[in-house]
Amino acid sequence: MEIRKRRLLPWSEPTVKRECDFLLDFAEFDAAAMTLSGDSQNAGSSERTRGAGAPSAVAGSVLAGPWTARPGGPLTGAASAPGDKSISHRALIFGALARGVSVVDGLLEGDDVLRTAAAMRAFGADIERDGARWRVAGAPWRSPDKALYFGNSGTGVRLVMGAAAGAGVAAAFDGDASLRARPMGRILEPLRMMGLEAADTDGRLPLAIEAADSLSAIRVKLATPSAQLKSAILLAALGAAGRTRVHEPVLCRDHTERMLGAFGVALDIEDDGAGGRYIGIEGGQALSACDVRVPGDPSSAAFLVAAAAITPGSDVLVKNVLMNPTRDGFYTTLREMGADLGYENRREESGEPVADLRVRSAPLAGVVVPAARAPSMIDEYPILSVVAAFAHGETVMEGLEELRVKESDRIASMEAGLAAAGVDAASGPDWLRVRGRGVAPAGGARVRTNHDHRIAMSFLVMGLAAKAPMEIDDAAMIATSFPDFAGLMASLGADMAPL
Ligand code: S3P
Repeated sequence: MEIRKRRLLPWSEPTVKRECDFLLDFAEFDAAAMTLSGDSQNAGSSERTRGAGAPSAVAGSVLAGPWTARPGGPLTGAASAPGDKSISHRALIFGALARGVSVVDGLLEGDDVLRTAAAMRAFGADIERDGARWRVAGAPWRSPDKALYFGNSGTGVRLVMGAAAGAGVAAAFDGDASLRARPMGRILEPLRMMGLEAADTDGRLPLAIEAADSLSAIRVKLATPSAQLKSAILLAALGAAGRTRVHEPVLCRDHTERMLGAFGVALDIEDDGAGGRYIGIEGGQALSACDVRVPGDPSSAAFLVAAAAITPGSDVLVKNVLMNPTRDGFYTTLREMGADLGYENRREESGEPVADLRVRSAPLAGVVVPAARAPSMIDEYPILSVVAAFAHGETVMEGLEELRVKESDRIASMEAGLAAAGVDAASGPDWLRVRGRGVAPAGGARVRTNHDHRIAMSFLVMGLAAKAPMEIDDAAMIATSFPDFAGLMASLGADMAPL
């Protein structure tokens, strides 16, 4: 879909009025039409890249509409986790910023990541799929001539916002209804401190940033433990004059720091003596191309592991799972609950620890999951609360305020779905409590996923081991992070199907 009326970017005279006009124009678009516009951004690129960047085709055809999962026999066999979503986004963004060609092996070809690929092409990078690998040729960034559409992807839009600010280019950003409801002010605030001019819709999408002639380095302490926020600041700092220093009082995933190092950027990382870190980065550093091997996503593997842990008689090997200590909180928690979970073949790949996970079903007990662990398992609370429904006793999950602003309000989505399935669940502003009875919960409910992939997968997993099948209203969003979820689950013996 073409943006009508006038060319929106770059602005010749960026006045407040023009920016507001722009936002009004943008707000007229409906989400369905914007899905097409995401594809049409790719249409201008070469023939060989077009097929690989067709996000809505993936989201629409493989998984769509209501699905059900039915209780059946044990899950058995081996499966490889899909590529890590966080690392996949970063490999494309850093490759697009770098001089030279980066080859990415094992990229997650989910809708969210393909949106980032489309955005990188719009900034000038040449990205093509070459068999199982992706080749990313960086180029000096230029302002895209259309607004960038990020679908459901908070990571994509937030990281790219920081990178575009650092690259000194104007860009406009939008997403689907879920992404439009999520906070962007937390990203704009530090970027504005650096000197960026931006027009936003009350801290939300759609928004537009101007090309910054110069940005200044800042010293900031992260008020929210968010790797997306930290990463956006570090990427913007690449284009700022001077040394930016980010204080991260609570550690969150460190893929940006690790990967910037691999792309030749020098960072100073120091412990703050209280469990956090200071990250220093000098502006003006160039990235050099680097090949990336993407390990399996622990947040996606969690669904396979959880399904085996709660389905009696199961014995499953999930291969090639990233075991970065800033991401492994779910697995620590499962073991505390008594799960029969072992790490095999531990190794290091592309600077990240990786292992194969062996899980057999076992009786589980409720635990208290401390707030301090939340950043290392922030995406795993939906599936953990399903596991907790099968455990004996109470599981209390604390420090969950960020779950309120994920793809859906995940505390509310989980509490409602669990209650519908006959599980005793309660919540507060930043906590969720699930009381299991050590036996399969009733199930037999239809759950609203609120356009949230992890809510959808969590309740399908529940249906495999509950007393009666579970239904979800829409499976389409699963393709944002785990397009082959249904296929992999079926290969292990799971009974899941569209309704
Ligand atoms: C991500 C960071 C996390 C996580 C998201 C991926 C990243 O978000 O929930 O799925 O790749 O940096 P927050 O930074 O908002 O916690």
